[in-house]
Amino acid sequence: MEQLKKEARAFLDLMAQDAVAGAWVPDIHARWKSVKLEIESTGTYIHTYKELMFGARLAWRHSNRCVGRHFWRTLQVQDARQCETADEAIFQLKKHADLAFNGGQIANVVTVFPPSRPGQPHPWRMLNHQLIRYAGFVQEDGSVLGDPDSVELTNYCLAQGWKVAPNPWTPLPWVLAHNEEPLPPLDPFQPGGLSVHEVPISHPDFPETESLGLRWYAVPILADMALKIGGIVYPFAPFNGHYLGTEIAARNLTDPDRYNILEAWASSCQISTEGNRTLWKDEALVRLNQALLHSFDKAGVTIGDHHELGRAFELWCQAEQRQGREVPGDWSWLTPPMSGSLTPQFHRHFSNAVVTHTNFFYQQPLEVQGTTFGSKTKDTHRLLAPDAFADDSTPKACPFSSMAKHIKSLWK
Ligand code: ARG
Repeated sequence: MEQLKKEARAFLDLMAQDAVAGAWVPDIHARWKSVKLEIESTGTYIHTYKELMFGARLAWRHSNRCVGRHFWRTLQVQDARQCETADEAIFQLKKHADLAFNGGQIANVVTVFPPSRPGQPHPWRMLNHQLIRYAGFVQEDGSVLGDPDSVELTNYCLAQGWKVAPNPWTPLPWVLAHNEEPLPPLDPFQPGGLSVHEVPISHPDFPETESLGLRWYAVPILADMALKIGGIVYPFAPFNGHYLGTEIAARNLTDPDRYNILEAWASSCQISTEGNRTLWKDEALVRLNQALLHSFDKAGVTIGDHHELGRAFELWCQAEQRQGREVPGDWSWLTPPMSGSLTPQFHRHFSNAVVTHTNFFYQQPLEVQGTTFGSKTKDTHRLLAPDAFADDSTPKACPFSSMAKHIKSLWK
């Protein structure tokens, strides 16, 4: 209770000091008094809508790994705290996907489901890592058709009776958990249902790249992180921004333990894959990233590039500094996975101090029938917030968990 009071107070203070939201807490003393009483009598407290709105935005501002958080004030906050039934939950999620896609001009949206309450199971969670993500089907020869990061959830859905004709770009059904009990998988992408807005990827100068049939979905809507505002944890609060090209082209499509397409891509661009010192990988990576940005632009879907986003983020850091606020950050995430030194982030020092009262956090993955669900990338990148969750375990010593099996073949 003392901890909760401290975190609630720290949040209210920041809100009261804010140039815009300060006006929404005209009398911080009165508000603090009532929050304190509420915590003492119920063990928790309920945010006003303005607190929820500002709190969610502030949580984004505090996300040390996000290089797009200078947009934090634009976050649209959907209040789904009253959600009780699966139908309502599905309705809210579909609404989120539509609002976010916004005809291609991606809007930043978070939908906040009920908070966790002392001694009670989490009202809503989801096994999915993102609302739209491709399944990964293990083939007879052990290879994976689709996204290898989704194998567990794909197997689970198939075992639960999901009927589908597998292809590399099959969107996963949704698996909600109510009071920590999983509900049957539901496929919102059936014909006539929710559309998976996708962008076909090819390079304008290399028409052969079209025949690879590459594509990616338009909006990353993260569904498995917890939102914490002033000490209150919202275990289910799906949120999205727009994509940064390198996330897709330099990671999702390229990582050896993801789609791993670099060699095939190089060939279709007539780049010889002999030897290391030709830098064919680098050349192919640049072509793929050009293709990605070009394809999103052509499709009219918002996409960031690391130069412009890096520049804008740096300007924001400087503006914050002028206000006496140092922007904390995680250098290894803010620096893009290609051409790092061409962005301002590479050349800046960031303190990685984590604001724990109001932030987005990884949480204990859900466990169903002995399998835990969560993106594998999570183990490698746990946010170090020791007091964020009592059940948070220490980060693994090896920072490469899912890469480990590839390390030998990569660097032998
Ligand atoms: N890196 C993740 C992906 O490629 C998305 C993480 C959130 N990204 C964002 N631009 N908001 O799917």
